[in-house]
Amino acid sequence: MQKKRDGKELTTAEINFFIDGYTAGDIPDYQASALAMAIFFQDMTDSERADLTMAMVNSGDTIDLSGIEGIKVDKHSTGGVGDTTTLVLAPLVGALDIPTAKMSGRGLGHTGGTIDKLEAVKGFHVEISNEKFMEIVNRDKVAVIGQSGNLTPADKKMYALRDVTGTVNSIPLIASSIMSKKIASGADAIVLDVKTGAGAFMKTEEDAQNLAHAMVRIGNNVGRQTMAVISDMSQPLGYAIGNALEVQEAIDTLKGEGPADLTELVLTLGSQMVVLAKKADTLAEARVMLEEVMANGKALAKFKTFLRNQGGDDSVVDHPERLPQAQFKIEVPAKTTGVVANMVADEIGIAAMLLGAGRATKEDEIDLAVGLMLRKKVGEAVEAGESLVTIYANRENVADVIAKIYDNITIADSGVEPTLIHSVVT
Ligand code: URA
Ligand code: CA
Repeated sequence: MQKKRDGKELTTAEINFFIDGYTAGDIPDYQASALAMAIFFQDMTDSERADLTMAMVNSGDTIDLSGIEGIKVDKHSTGGVGDTTTLVLAPLVGALDIPTAKMSGRGLGHTGGTIDKLEAVKGFHVEISNEKFMEIVNRDKVAVIGQSGNLTPADKKMYALRDVTGTVNSIPLIASSIMSKKIASGADAIVLDVKTGAGAFMKTEEDAQNLAHAMVRIGNNVGRQTMAVISDMSQPLGYAIGNALEVQEAIDTLKGEGPADLTELVLTLGSQMVVLAKKADTLAEARVMLEEVMANGKALAKFKTFLRNQGGDDSVVDHPERLPQAQFKIEVPAKTTGVVANMVADEIGIAAMLLGAGRATKEDEIDLAVGLMLRKKVGEAVEAGESLVTIYANRENVADVIAKIYDNITIADSGVEPTLIHSVVT
């Protein structure tokens, strides 16, 4: 602690000693919080960051995916609103024979996690054995299994401590936290989608850039090739925010008929995955390959196989009306004529959560049918009376949701579409 406080570099042995001792309970919280605060102010060198990441990886179980052929490229998003990319990317790159062996949790948020969304498909389940999981991925390239094992306990403990000691917002601590979880779950290579804007953890582009570069350096320093995309989350991604609604949006996107921003983001992230999986030499070449499997139906066919393999009713792909349907559809009309100038992503996400699309606490039940469909996005013209958003609800009175939507969508004389991809880090 004193050494870090004074701005000196910690050795690998010192970092391991701390993480092992803290995980075991031999080092008390007050010492750990002093170290977190010292790191917050003094930062960490590249080698300290790599050591901290690997010490946290080794603090618990790690997933062995060596039984799966090929390079396992994992994608991680720092989180946003209505982010349907995982549902699209797994079958999309799967159609190019790139394995996705995803372990996923449920967690809290505006909408459910990947597993919750997929459970909008009747019969789909993630309770499969490890053997079955491996067998499916080897044969068909894509499967999702529920989280098991005790991954990165040091990170869980540290994160909880940081939360109450004002030390969450530290680039070396965030970067090692995220990277340790990806590495412990078996990734050979990693693609990161670092969001920036109102709906993101990193509110400014500068912070997002710093975090992306920090994570890419850690990955490359510990032998996991890593690339990153910095993408806009000032407004929600795509049109759909809600579980069944996002499954539908994923299907449209796999057909090449999805929202422009979601499509662009999956092609950008997907290209990095294809290059890291060594299926293409350049991002441009990778993109052409992805566009091809979208156009020729292979990506969509892969999605059907994926659903079927895990008990899901794959007929929803051709019959979306078989997805859970909300009882009420309520339009939210624009009050004035103009251009959509701003849409506060996280608040719109909360509007979806009020309907029951996501969990505020672990005990909350998700309603898979409900959510929001944006009818306009930032930069689009709108006439008074035209719908801005359609609310999909299972309750008739949605005055609270309507109020939140009006509070967080601004119509003005002018507005410009935000840049979606701020930069790529390779
Ligand atoms: N998300 C994480 O997983 N870890 C952090 O430290 C911050 C955000
Ligand atoms: Ca969406």
